[in-house]
Amino acid sequence: MTQQKATNITWHEGNVTAEERQKNMGQKGCTLWMTGLSGSGKSTVAVALEQVLLQQGKHAYRLDGDNIRMGLNKNLGFSPEDRDENIRRIGEVTKLFADAGIISLTSFISPYREARDMVRKLHEDAGIPFLEVHVDCSLEKAEERDPKGLYKKARAGEIKGFTGIDAPFEEPLKAEIVIKTHELSIEESVQTLLDALDERGLI
Ligand code: ADX
Repeated sequence: MTQQKATNITWHEGNVTAEERQKNMGQKGCTLWMTGLSGSGKSTVAVALEQVLLQQGKHAYRLDGDNIRMGLNKNLGFSPEDRDENIRRIGEVTKLFADAGIISLTSFISPYREARDMVRKLHEDAGIPFLEVHVDCSLEKAEERDPKGLYKKARAGEIKGFTGIDAPFEEPLKAEIVIKTHELSIEESVQTLLDALDERGLI
């Protein structure tokens, strides 16, 4: 795990409480962490959910794997170390969004259980709700969809270390929510997530 490098730093407390922030926002922030294979539907479901939440007057924001890798994480590739650093940074960023009162929706393969558990702990230690969502779709189905043509390239040996082909995906063991995207429509997946947020008093 990443160690803090800086010394001689002191936490500077603010003058407003989380409750005051939540009151202004009219909601409690949280993180909905989608994990699953490339092509499983993480981004598709997140996009649809974000839209519905905004239409309902909620504050939601999406952090997406491909997008973040074009900016904040543009210096990271797909080695196990880089994927861990990708998830560590996003874990910190989504925690900040959630702390600010936003319903933060993340869609990253996040293939390693330990890295996901680290993000969960980050939230739990800060008292911020964290819901792990297993976007569960068989490799066969994801490969059949192959929206970006990447499985084809990986099978042809043109991409090394592709998740599901020659790099692992460690399935969640304790996800709060499982959505089987090869059985549900996008609307049904979105409704499952809305219900989960509603049950927990988060919307
Ligand atoms: S993660 O493993 O570090 O969580 P992330 O979600 O950010 O991955 O990025 C995954 C996206 O990068 C995929 O949807 C795909 O478009 C692209 N990609 C490019 N190379 C790979 C690879 N080797 N394995 C998986 N996805 C890859």
